[in-house]
Order: sequence, then C-alpha cells, then structure tokens
Amino acid sequence: MAIIFPKGFVWGAATASYQIEGAANEDGRGESIWDRFSHTPGNVLNGDTGDVADDHYHRWPQDVALMQSLGLKAYRFSIAWPRIIPDGIGAVNDAGLDFYDRLVDGLLAAGIEPFVTLYHWDLPQVLQDRGGWPNRDSAAWFADYTAVVSRRLGDRVHNWITLNEPWVSAFLGYMMGVHAPGIRDPKAAMQAAHHLLLAHGQAVSILRRNGNGATRVGITLNLTWVDPASDRPEDVEAARRQDGFANRLFLDPVFKGSYPADFMELCGDLAPQVEEGDLQQIAAPLDFLGVNYYTRSVVADDPNVPMLRTRSIQPEGAEYTEMGWEVYPEGLYRLLRRLHEDYGPGAIYITENGAAFADRVESGRVHDERRIAYLREHLTSCWRAIQEGVPLRGYFVWSLLDNFEWGYGYSKRFGIVYVDYGTQERIPKDSAFFYRDVIAANGVA
Ligand code: FCB
Repeated sequence: MAIIFPKGFVWGAATASYQIEGAANEDGRGESIWDRFSHTPGNVLNGDTGDVADDHYHRWPQDVALMQSLGLKAYRFSIAWPRIIPDGIGAVNDAGLDFYDRLVDGLLAAGIEPFVTLYHWDLPQVLQDRGGWPNRDSAAWFADYTAVVSRRLGDRVHNWITLNEPWVSAFLGYMMGVHAPGIRDPKAAMQAAHHLLLAHGQAVSILRRNGNGATRVGITLNLTWVDPASDRPEDVEAARRQDGFANRLFLDPVFKGSYPADFMELCGDLAPQVEEGDLQQIAAPLDFLGVNYYTRSVVADDPNVPMLRTRSIQPEGAEYTEMGWEVYPEGLYRLLRRLHEDYGPGAIYITENGAAFADRVESGRVHDERRIAYLREHLTSCWRAIQEGVPLRGYFVWSLLDNFEWGYGYSKRFGIVYVDYGTQERIPKDSAFFYRDVIAANGVA
C-alpha cells in the first residue's frame, strides 16, 4: 500500500545550536550553562563537550547544500542565546545575530523554510549565576532576548518555536541534575517549569509584534503515550499520575490555562508559586503545537517511590534503540489522536522523531536499516492520524547530523547523515536516501 501525505506537507530535519555549532569561543559568544556543565568532569560521557561539535558554525553553507540535495522543505534549528546577548542581559552582540541572519538567507535561497527555536537549553551562564529559570526574572530575560532576535529575523522567519521541551529543562536540569545546570532540587525544578511556561507565554505576543503578519508561533513539548504495566487498577492509576507529570503539566496550562489539579495535589509543598495573571499569559493562543516523540512510557504502581509512586517498566520482547528506548510507533498514532481530541491545537508538527543506532561506515556507506524501519513505521503512524482528521502539517526528523547528544556526548548517533568527528566529513546514511525518496514522493512506498 502506498502512503501519500497531503499536498504541502512540510518535510524537515531538526538540530539544536549547542549540539552542532561548535565555535564556542568565537565572534563574542558568551558561556552557556552547557559549556560550564560539559567542562565539569563527570557530567558528560567521555568528557565530551560542544566546543567543536559538528563545526556547523563554519560549515553551514555545506550543510545547507546537503539539505537541499535531500530535498528538505524545512529546517528546524535553534539560536544560541549566548551568541546574541553574551551577558544574558543588555548589550547585543551583532556578530551573533549576523550568523543567523546569513543562515536564514542561505536557507531561503535554497528554498528551505526556517523553523526557529529560541531556546534549546543553552542558557547564558551569567543568568544561571543569577538563579536561572527558578528566578522569576527569567521570563523577562527571555522576553528581551526574544525581542532582539525577532526584530532582526522576523521579516523572513515565519515559524517560531519558543521553547524546546521545557519538561527536560526543568526536570533533567534542576531536579535530576543530569543536564545543565546540574541541580538536584525538586522545588526549584517545579518553579523553573512555571517560569519557562511564563517565558513562553510572554514571548508569543512579542514574536507576533515583530513579525510581518505571516508569523506563526508554537511551543515544542516532549510528549509520550503512557501505558499501565498491567490492567490492575493500581497500575492504571499510576499511568494517570505519570501522564500528569509527563504530558498534562505542560499541555493543560498552554491549552487550557490551568494546571492539572490531580498532579498539583501530588506535588503538595513542591507546587510552584503562581501569580495572578500568569496562567492567562501562558495560555496565549498558538498557531501550532510541536511534538517530540521517541518512545512510550510503561509504568507500574510503586508505593516506595516518593510523590509519583510509579516505576518505569521495560516491556520484554520489544525492540530497543541505543538509548534503551523502546521502538513503539503505535504510541505516536495514539498520542496524536489524543492531542487532537483533548486539546485541539490548530496544527501539529512532529518537531522531532528519530533513533540512535550503532552506525558503522562500510566502504563509504552507512547501512542503517533499523533507522529506515523506525522512520517508515513512525511515518505510517503519522499518516494514519492524518487520515482520521488530526491536523498534522509536517514532520522533522531528529536529526540532520550526528551530534552532541547531551549527557551521552558523541556516543549516540541520531543523524540521517553520519559525521566523522575526526575529519568533519558528512556521509549521508542510507536513511538519508530513504528520506530523500519519501520527500520526493510525498509519501512512503
Ligand atoms: C530530545 C532533544 C534533542 C535530542 C533528542 C534525542 O529530547 O530535544 O536535542 O537530544 O532528544
């Protein structure tokens, strides 16, 4: 059966500044929390840092040409805040803005639509020194930064994503401490989550004001499909709690203007301080929801775990990627249906989907059959959701290039293009050719 997508479906690839750019100390870039975190021994596997990464800062023309050769219609990238306002507040670094200005022009000249993420985790370190996201001022810092970037690029960039995965920023960064800034303080994490949302809400009107009328604004959330480990009522309840934490904590305020009552009750003293008017700002109308989907979550009830009282289960007999994530395309289909039914966003984009496998170069080729299968199955889930009325408008594969995978450093390869970190050579994997054919056919054979 041939699977054909609607006309105009947006086929893209995604990256993020710290994961690909390198040039950490060039043209006036300031320090980010990820520079500090990765340079602190013990935080990142093998002591890897983003100092050089894919050297995209210098090689972007070649990378844009590569995207063009694959037929990409859109490219999602993020802006490094410390390149734009190195001290976090105040003086604007023109050289930083110039870089993104050239990139945007280069993309448009190649017929590729830019989707710009304002925050993909590289907070200026000086702002962390002032308390970071748990400090309520962070919303105003982000507003100023958003104004600077959108004044410069708003005439040509029409699709903006305020934040990438605020759940990860708040909880991996401030609760579990496995991401920058490496803090372990649940109360601070909950407050960070609220301020991230507030920052998002305030940025929406700024982006519209600085656009040329065609501006479309969204937020990207990491969302998952949660299944109970069994049909015991205890496990079903556990799945509901997990869904509150993983999904509804962000979806409800953005689309309904309220925090989920059941989850806030679980939080007790950890619940964030919310001021009058905050939720109204957070619920500013959006043009689209960005969904990052990699795997589902299966949980069991576990009274010994504080607060959530849930434990993650790895189903037996399932296929797992190099990240240890179960391959579960059905979850994407179910998630999309659920988002449409429960929240009704005007449009949805898959802003990330992909998989890490142990790729090897053999005679100049990378035969990543498992990634091709992963992509094919997830695209089929997208198509099924579209057939049932879900307004899914585009799909961005994670990632264009192998890159710095946060705490795992360069050990996990998510690219459809292989990067030889010794020479910076780019080698399109078989999945890149598969994706090129999908784009050309606007569907999957
Ligand atoms: C997401 C991140 C992205 C990448 C993928 C694998 O959580 O947004 O930067 O690391 O996971």
